Amino acid sequence: MQQIANIAELRERLGKAASVAFVPTMGNLHEGHLDLVRQARAHGECVVVSIFVNPLQFGPQEDLDRYPRTIDGDLAMRADEGVALAFAPSLDQMYPVDPVVTVSGGALASRFEGAHRPGHFDGVLTVVAKLFGLLRPDVAVFGRKDAQQLALVRRMVTDLDLGVAIVGAPTVREPDGLALSSRNRNLSPSERESALSLSRGLSAGVSLAAAGAGSREVVGAVRTALDHAGGVRTDYVALVNPDDFTDIDLAAGRPGRGQQALLVVAARVGRTRLIDNMLVQGET
Ligand code: PAF
Repeated sequence: MQQIANIAELRERLGKAASVAFVPTMGNLHEGHLDLVRQARAHGECVVVSIFVNPLQFGPQEDLDRYPRTIDGDLAMRADEGVALAFAPSLDQMYPVDPVVTVSGGALASRFEGAHRPGHFDGVLTVVAKLFGLLRPDVAVFGRKDAQQLALVRRMVTDLDLGVAIVGAPTVREPDGLALSSRNRNLSPSERESALSLSRGLSAGVSLAAAGAGSREVVGAVRTALDHAGGVRTDYVALVNPDDFTDIDLAAGRPGRGQQALLVVAARVGRTRLIDNMLVQGET
């Protein structure tokens, strides 16, 4: 495992690898990131983890300066996972000048998370496109917890013919169901208890859907779970097509054979905003 901050050196090292599997991160790594690294190891000879807190994806109300930067701890964790290269560029290396040309996710980037964080996904897509250009990976691994981000990256790769295979890694959960997130460490013990309403509500919704309930009942079950937990404010609950995040109406027919619907939720628990999702399977 070796940390590389220099782009020229990185290019030289990667040029020698038979295949490159890439895990983009903003650092502050936890078990969920390590799982992405494990997935990457199954897909490429050389695994690269990038650590870069990307200013383009933070809104004016989001405190970029307070985003936790834990590079020493991150490097130690990655060493345990046998990561070949850790790419941690400086701001000046990534953006020597403010970019004039950026990537836009269009309508898909302005719904759900995009509606709550205007410009966020365009910032994500722009830095991911830049990192793909720098690293030229064969495969890149993204967590399914950030489902809209995953859908947008897949779409960017298709629309711009970037030639990178995108792997969506399953969400890693605590034993009680809480989805792993860097933000969980901001939760007090009672907020953490309330935060369980997201995964519990989603599980209840998925079970109802499997038993034949329509969208209204499924979404209602999630909302009820959130409403009954103390200090939780719901931003959205919806059933969507995981590819384009358009609404899916279960009353208008189950997801067809081989199709899937995604039950998505975002809520504030105290001052911490959390997202989660679970798949509602169609006929097999
Ligand atoms: O998911 C993240 O951590 C970030 O959005 C990403 C993909 C590393 C881009 O900065």
